[in-house]
Amino acid sequence: MNAEIKPAQGKLGVLTVGLGAVSTTFIAGVISIRNGTDLPIGSYSQLGTIRLGKRTEKRHPLVRDFVPLADLKDIAFGAWDIFEDNAYESAIHAGVLDEYRHLHRIKAELEKIKPMKAVFNPNYVKKLHGEYVKNIDNKWDQAQALREDIRNFMRENDCSRAVMIWCASTEVYIEPGAVHETLEAFEKGLKENNPSISPSMIYAYASIMERVPFSNGAPNLACDCHALEELANKMNVPIAGKDFKTGQTLMKTILAPGLKARSLGIRGWFSTNILGNRDGEVLDDPESFKTKEVSKLSVLENILEPERHPELYKELYHKVRINYYPPHGDNKESWDNIDITGWLGYQMQIKINFLCRDSILAAPVVLDLALFLDLAQRSNMSGIQEWLSFYFKSPQTAKGLPPQHDIFKQLMKLENTLRHLKGEDLITHLGLDYYQEFIEA
Ligand SMILES: NC(=O)c1ccc[n+]([C@@H]2O[C@H](COP(=O)([O-])OP(=O)(O)OC[C@H]3O[C@@H](n4cnc5c(N)ncnc54)[C@H](O)[C@@H]3O)[C@@H](O)[C@H]2O)c1
Repeated sequence: MNAEIKPAQGKLGVLTVGLGAVSTTFIAGVISIRNGTDLPIGSYSQLGTIRLGKRTEKRHPLVRDFVPLADLKDIAFGAWDIFEDNAYESAIHAGVLDEYRHLHRIKAELEKIKPMKAVFNPNYVKKLHGEYVKNIDNKWDQAQALREDIRNFMRENDCSRAVMIWCASTEVYIEPGAVHETLEAFEKGLKENNPSISPSMIYAYASIMERVPFSNGAPNLACDCHALEELANKMNVPIAGKDFKTGQTLMKTILAPGLKARSLGIRGWFSTNILGNRDGEVLDDPESFKTKEVSKLSVLENILEPERHPELYKELYHKVRINYYPPHGDNKESWDNIDITGWLGYQMQIKINFLCRDSILAAPVVLDLALFLDLAQRSNMSGIQEWLSFYFKSPQTAKGLPPQHDIFKQLMKLENTLRHLKGEDLITHLGLDYYQEFIEA
């Protein structure tokens, strides 16, 4: 298929829910990159290349030259937060980017990005006390107010399109229930102030209603429920979630497929983290941590498939801990101890000590998601965008479909989707055909 992809004309509004560490690192990063002072390191959409055709054809364009993505110069930034700090103040508070190396020289631009008043519910984020919130009690009315914010933002910033990305705090763990099952039940629930509808769902609803693609960077449900999937399909809007894949889980989904590929057994995988930013503080609440834990635990089981390989993985003991440790700030430190089994049952251990910077890893993910969701919208793709699983710890899938966690399969799916959109051959890596050509030559 060579899909009709509408050109990326005009400005793209990137609206983040939350103007905290991840959002400000993303915004300040994009501004620095378009000013020419920095490179978009970590962004596949900006630095990645894609092979087209046979290996022998030597066609490897940059992804951004191959598919028509929005130019970074055409992005306008908007956000909501429960604190009134502008993007400069918030970035200083987050302490991720160096004040003199990065923030000071783009201070004027960052100061112009002021959050809109949030839709917030302290029952869903117990560690924070929002001050800068909409004074509206009814959830339906809150959704209408967010829709108005989106329209106002797009008009004031002269945007032809927008995307919304949840970069706000992790909400407490809830299971989808009857109110999340159908669009009708959900809209009734909004009007009746159903307590099971969280702020992230209200933002997602407002976004989709405005035909603005929605993505969820945290592990709470947001658009990951049937009602909002139904809405996304009805409105012809792409959605994707959930929980940005960075840090420890990124490492896990790189390493586990490799160990499995070599049929090495794994008896235990113990993962622990310390981090001290506001995200860490929110995750210190057991109910928010539960949401994160569920998201982090699902990964290994899916990659290793213990039911298919009981001799290698049936004993697997997987444990994940996150501890709030303020002195480390955004510089998360994680330790993994992996007990693996080799030939004739001999035991070995792998130790990983990753001193990462959470928001430095998450910022390019926000950029790629914004650009690819906008591409999806212009390519007339709607509903769950499973080809963006590459970016998530808990990829959202259609009911009954298991998610794909293996990062290499995720990348193949992403690349093949881009080839498919442009009418290029999908790549199977078989290569037998051109071996024959080489032999005959
Ligand atoms: N950094 C990473 O590597 C990473 C990876 C995966 C997921 N995440 C998730 O991304 C999210 C953002 O992380 P962060 O480090 O920027 O956190 P942060 O605490 O610095 O920023 C979150 C912001 O959201 C605001 N907020 C909370 N509820 C809100 C609401 N209802 N409406 C508007 N704003 C609201 C908070 O005031 C805060 O400023 C978290 O949920 C985190 O779990 C981060």
